[in-house]
Amino acid sequence: MEKLVVEKSMNLRGHIRVSGAKNACLPILAATLLGTEDIILEDVPKLKDVEIMCEVLRALGAEVEDLGGGVVRVNAKNINTYETKYELMSKMRASFLVMGPLLGRMNKAKNSLPGGCTIGARPIDLHLKGFRALGVECEEHYGEDDDGEDSYILAHTENLVGNKVYLDFPSVGATENIMMAAVLAKGRTIIENAAMEPEIVDLSNFLRKLGGNIKGAGTNTIIIDGVEKLYGAKHQIIPDRIEAGTFMVAAAITQGDVIIDNVIPNHLRPVISKLEEAGCQIEEFDESVRVVGPEFLKGIDIKTLPYPGFPTDMQAQFMAMMTQCQGTNTVIETVFENRFMHVDEFRRMGAMISVDDRSATIKGGRKLVGNKVYATDLRCGAALILAGFVAEGQTEVYDIYHIDRGYEDIEAKLKGIGGNIKRVNE
Ligand code: UD1
Repeated sequence: MEKLVVEKSMNLRGHIRVSGAKNACLPILAATLLGTEDIILEDVPKLKDVEIMCEVLRALGAEVEDLGGGVVRVNAKNINTYETKYELMSKMRASFLVMGPLLGRMNKAKNSLPGGCTIGARPIDLHLKGFRALGVECEEHYGEDDDGEDSYILAHTENLVGNKVYLDFPSVGATENIMMAAVLAKGRTIIENAAMEPEIVDLSNFLRKLGGNIKGAGTNTIIIDGVEKLYGAKHQIIPDRIEAGTFMVAAAITQGDVIIDNVIPNHLRPVISKLEEAGCQIEEFDESVRVVGPEFLKGIDIKTLPYPGFPTDMQAQFMAMMTQCQGTNTVIETVFENRFMHVDEFRRMGAMISVDDRSATIKGGRKLVGNKVYATDLRCGAALILAGFVAEGQTEVYDIYHIDRGYEDIEAKLKGIGGNIKRVNE
């Protein structure tokens, strides 16, 4: 079993490069199923989740070739099945993103459902609402098996037809899945209350390169005029704003001075703003940001929201920082109903945090002490590394497969700015 061993590492400094965005890459890989010619993707991060999505594509009959250096070629001309099996689906929820493209290409898709997810129920009702609006019959089969092994969705249609879809919540995945189905539908689809995340814009840009006709991505109304066929393209994945934000907090929490490269500062507005409020100095350049952490961090409050609000995927890392901010800090999580599993792990390190439903109060300025802790999910894992950098003694982070799902080469990158972190095989 692998673990990460982290030692106190103040004053991180130097340059650190951000990889391509996991959450842009996964839907774009799913969308390659819509193309009928070679697709070249650049800046594809080397991550477990990306590997799983590539496996999903191969299992559907697509050619997927790793050309090295973050470049991947996909050709989905000869996909030969519409079914994604439980073994793959259960490894990653985002596998559900192949449903939209399969409906576009084959008018049919069958996808196993994973069991409950640790960060809330994460239903798929909005995805299905969208498909149904496009004329798809979605049969929901819920088996008796608790882990969902015999539960699946079978979706089929004679013809996808454009329609208006209002999303009750601006779900990222539902917006993406509906966009991908609508791009080959007959007529116009309008997604109202759509998610506005930068990853949606990247998916839209990619689909447009394939020949899709999409307007409005990045706003709350996306208009898709269906086309007959999509072709090939070359596309570079946008930088990962959550990885960037994680490194920004690493600088902030260690009184560091770090330049984070391959960043689109505009994607990080709430993160920059909250770090400034905590007393960090931030300089923005075209494709990088410099973060200088203060001697004393000021207390702050955050509330997670859909983009352009504060990202839920940065909540745990900020909570790690809040254990060091002066006074009382609060976190309100509005996106997921159960995203405070990291609290118990911080407590094992000496943090004082109380939780009441969707809000957490963190007593700042506490000395943390290294301990054995568990990455209960991806961002929790990253947050524990950050806490380890300011804790006395040694922090051992277990269950790090979660971290490898979403951070490329994290220990090498953090070592490059002076982080004392190593991977140990027990
Ligand atoms: C994506 C990101 C994830 C991020 C999240 C929110 C990917 C691969 N993952 O996840 O890292 O934390 O956005 O920014 O891009 N919901 C429904 N019904 C649905 C779909 C969602 O009620 O049909 C609810 C969910 O339960 C959750 C909220 O909407 O409470 C947000 O989910 P959503 O935006 O769909 O997140 P994901 O696309 O799963």
